[in-house]
Amino acid sequence: MKPIKMSNGKSIPLEMHKARIVQKCSLISPVNRLQAITEAGNNTFLLNNRDVFLDMLTDSGVNAMSDNQLAAMMKGDDSYAGSETFHRLEEAVSQLFGTQFFLPTHQGRASEHLISKCLISPGKIVPMNYHFTTSKAHITILGGEIVELYSKDALDIRSQCPFKGNMDIEALDDLILKFGKENIGFVRMEAGTNLIGGQPFSLENLRQVSIRCRMHQIPLVLDASLLSDNLHFIKMREDACREMSIQEIAQRMASLCDIIYFSGRKLGAARGGGICTSNEAIFKQLRPMIPLYEGFLTYGGMSIKEMEAMAIGLNETLDEDNISQGPQFIAFMTEAFIERGVPVITPPGGLGCHLDAMAFLPHVQQEKYPAGALAAAIYLVSGIRGMERGTLSEQRNTDGTEPLAHMELVRLALPRRVFTMSHILFAVDRIAWLFQNRHLIGGLEWVEEPDVLRFFYGRLNPDGNWQKSLMEQFEKDFGDSH
Ligand code: F0G
Repeated sequence: MKPIKMSNGKSIPLEMHKARIVQKCSLISPVNRLQAITEAGNNTFLLNNRDVFLDMLTDSGVNAMSDNQLAAMMKGDDSYAGSETFHRLEEAVSQLFGTQFFLPTHQGRASEHLISKCLISPGKIVPMNYHFTTSKAHITILGGEIVELYSKDALDIRSQCPFKGNMDIEALDDLILKFGKENIGFVRMEAGTNLIGGQPFSLENLRQVSIRCRMHQIPLVLDASLLSDNLHFIKMREDACREMSIQEIAQRMASLCDIIYFSGRKLGAARGGGICTSNEAIFKQLRPMIPLYEGFLTYGGMSIKEMEAMAIGLNETLDEDNISQGPQFIAFMTEAFIERGVPVITPPGGLGCHLDAMAFLPHVQQEKYPAGALAAAIYLVSGIRGMERGTLSEQRNTDGTEPLAHMELVRLALPRRVFTMSHILFAVDRIAWLFQNRHLIGGLEWVEEPDVLRFFYGRLNPDGNWQKSLMEQFEKDFGDSH
């Protein structure tokens, strides 16, 4: 449905749902926030949810469910093998993607684990539009190497390019020529490219990638975890697709790929995951690993209740009113930041609003983790939990050197249908205040650095006493307000 107009001709992101069940939030005092972030080693992953006011860490497993999803959970057919629930989920997957075979997994990274085990051996190259943390880790741990072939606009923070998630097709041609098709494990396309700000690729770009993959018989793998946002953007931004239904776009995308996998914590607004394909040989290669690593073929480590909810959630992905909600709120938040001069990624993408920490904190060197420092500072002044998506989220090279991320971002995820307009306005107001006082924010340094996926549970200290000074300024300006 087109945006609904106000009397002044403008539109606001209008909820196409109403709240029937709500959850209480609390905003703890500034003193307690300082204590909480210190105890969490300045890592927002280590905060306790009871100390968080608005949890914008992620959209993973925390999107609001619909009444129909909740109702479906009640009729889960709990059976180790052959449950009706599995057949309903299998049917929903095939309605969305038009694929023949479905293998359930316990979440997205489990699918990545199994696909990598199948297709990666030491030395294999995996070209992709951009990496995601867990997908890269599963490939490199098996001795594979990823090569990012992003388009020239991908890293341009303030861009108008509608499809920053596109793959550079010429670079793909060159790469296949250089390494030879036999050395390429698979080509990976990620919908709603997470780490560059939830940016989509176009259907035409996927088609061009697919032509190359088919010509050289290289498997094309689609990470569909953030597909719902990408579907929305294709429909809104790609001229050739404006008249297509969401289902037509999804099925067209799927028909261009050999394997599709997803995190059901994002796509389908439940908790779980899966792999689908119409290629019987690939299906037979992957199938034995499901009972070995996940669970029997008809549940794959998921709870039956979540599978029921996911089946309905996948179905609701075909509803434009539903999948437009996230992107519309994100666009509203992004524009509010721009009005206040706060640096953000444009155009607005899916998943969340992304702050550009290098422009926010130009005085903090990348080696001092500006995005991690900004995420900690945001929590201090607002109780909002965002996520560092910068150098901390990278992994060290095998020689121990630290690659600096292309971008230092703080992601303020907007789990779908969870936050209200006043939550967004509060977040924008506090972060705009922080921007005015940005000179008070310093960097971070490691206290405890894990070897793999270090951002999840590593601990850091502030470089100097900046957090105390920031909170003194906060108290001056906000008095006794939390
Ligand atoms: N692929 C993408 C694009 C993702 O965003 C994620 C998860 C995964 C794969 C892994 O899925 O969590 O179900 O194992 N992203 C979460 C996030 C963690 O917060 O962005 P999972």
